[in-house]
Amino acid sequence: MKHFLDIDQLTQHDVNVLIKRALHFKMNTIYPQYPHCSVVHLFYENSTRTRVSFELAAKNLAMTVVNLDLERSSETKGEHIEDTVKTLAAMGINLAVIRHVQEGLPEVLVTSCGDAIHILNAGDGTHAHPTQAMLDMMTVMEQKPDLSVLKIAIVGDIRHSRVANSLQLVCATLGVGELVLVSPKVWQPKTVHYGRITHVLRDGLVDADVVICLRVQNERLATDEHLDLASYRRDYALTREHLIYAKKDAMVMHPGPLNRGVEIDDDVADGPQSYILQQVTNGVYMRMAILESLITTSQ
Ligand code: CP
Repeated sequence: MKHFLDIDQLTQHDVNVLIKRALHFKMNTIYPQYPHCSVVHLFYENSTRTRVSFELAAKNLAMTVVNLDLERSSETKGEHIEDTVKTLAAMGINLAVIRHVQEGLPEVLVTSCGDAIHILNAGDGTHAHPTQAMLDMMTVMEQKPDLSVLKIAIVGDIRHSRVANSLQLVCATLGVGELVLVSPKVWQPKTVHYGRITHVLRDGLVDADVVICLRVQNERLATDEHLDLASYRRDYALTREHLIYAKKDAMVMHPGPLNRGVEIDDDVADGPQSYILQQVTNGVYMRMAILESLITTSQ
């Protein structure tokens, strides 16, 4: 694997190998060291979890980390991102972790600079967020390893969610028994990659083993896509009252950041069924596995 762009480039075997490796890192405190490798972080959209966990992952593997300050980079003088990435590769940087609003930009960069540097997609617009989907499935499989018998519900703004897209692909690749996408009609996606869609929360949640709540992405909504948040909360928020539809041991997950009191209540986010912080923890190990895989298996 030379680049990490989305889940559909991976076989079921590839996904399982990466999850196994990430779990190995989680159980062991002595990690392989790759001091000859360097990673640049190009985050054109804000991030806390993805950016910091990629940085910790690289440092755990003894890689050099460069965080390009984009407000002070030469792109402010008109340099194209392709030239920025080629310039960084020419300095000897091996891996570029990119988050950008433009869908498909990581693929464009693979075409223009992919011979010189490994490209990792850390989220491209509403298209894909594959490392998030990988850490999510790692978190599920730690608790409920037989995915074929599981019902997973993804609830919220599916249309604008790159996480939902990559999660559908990974659920398809791993053969999740039932995947239900729950969303008000205005936020339903134009394309469903896997599973079925419903606008009825109870239909999605009933007997669910895992409930993945999505953030309401106000910054991505078109003017005719805005909903009254009070009615959204009444019909779709993950409250204790709604969570009762799911199985008693249903896992509650959320990729973050959380809009508390909008799509999820405090007592659910912080409650005994919540795996939200475990997702964050697993993000470091999963990104270690992915970084290592790119530099060791792509020759
Ligand atoms: N889940 C996620 O991508 O979070 P950040 O935006 O904080 O990286």
